Amino acid sequence: MRILLTGSAGFIGTAVGELLEADGHEVVRVDLMLPMAHGVGAPPPGTHHLDVRDAATWSGLLRGVDAVCDQAAVVGAGVRVGDLPDYAGHNDLGTAALLAAMHEVGVDRLVLASSMVVYGEGRYRCPEHGDQTPPPRQVADGVELSVSDQCGGIPEDDMDRVFDLAWRGAAARTPDRSDELVGPGAGLGLAIVKGIVEAHRGVVHVENVASPAGGTPSGCRFLVRLPAGAA
Ligand SMILES: NC(=O)c1ccc[n+]([C@@H]2O[C@H](COP(=O)([O-])OP(=O)(O)OC[C@H]3O[C@@H](n4cnc5c(N)ncnc54)[C@H](O)[C@@H]3O)[C@@H](O)[C@H]2O)c1
Repeated sequence: MRILLTGSAGFIGTAVGELLEADGHEVVRVDLMLPMAHGVGAPPPGTHHLDVRDAATWSGLLRGVDAVCDQAAVVGAGVRVGDLPDYAGHNDLGTAALLAAMHEVGVDRLVLASSMVVYGEGRYRCPEHGDQTPPPRQVADGVELSVSDQCGGIPEDDMDRVFDLAWRGAAARTPDRSDELVGPGAGLGLAIVKGIVEAHRGVVHVENVASPAGGTPSGCRFLVRLPAGAA
């Protein structure tokens, strides 16, 4: 296969590139050579010195590619609040720009490492049962996973908009994290989730969960279903 590897000069990208070539694949390498990862250094031989955020400008490199392995990221969360635009730009916008360029030239296979900077650390704290890490479960034709909360549900008028790019719900739905080095969010996470799930021919869906006592919902549930063998 011909595989375009982003972040190819990084820790993971270097190892992935070597393993792919050892398996007989052709690797097209792309890396921005960020100083925070590399100091001042020239790109390794054969590396295209390019930015995934600008993938539309180099989508020609994607022609004839069978799959993309996306390892380009700024890693290490919570250094300074001022770093947020860089994290969101390189990690969220970069992946979105790459997906759009892939779509443009008809490449539909992606392996995404992503980062907990994007997807969070995965822990969910249930008021009743403590810390939870919900496992995925097998369904007839694929894999399904869900995450629920106890935050009173989403107003019906907002249901169609929660996956929209840059849309944010009412401030009341944003936990008070003023004691932490994080902001209130930028409305990117769910739009990226939807883009990535659909790129793998899956579906993502949100629904309110009824309160056992009836009346207003007790919370909402996000459900992701991926077909077997799509990734
Ligand atoms: N290293 C780990 O143990 C580990 C664990 C879990 C997940 N991951 C994830 O794997 C991915 C790769 O991590 P890593 O450890 O290799 O990081 P790294 O910092 O060593 O490599 C990332 C590479 O991406 C490049 N890059 C950054 N922004 C770019 C952009 N806009 N365009 C093109 N290239 C860009 C950097 O120059 C760098 O070479 C990240 O998403 C990371 O969160 C890594």
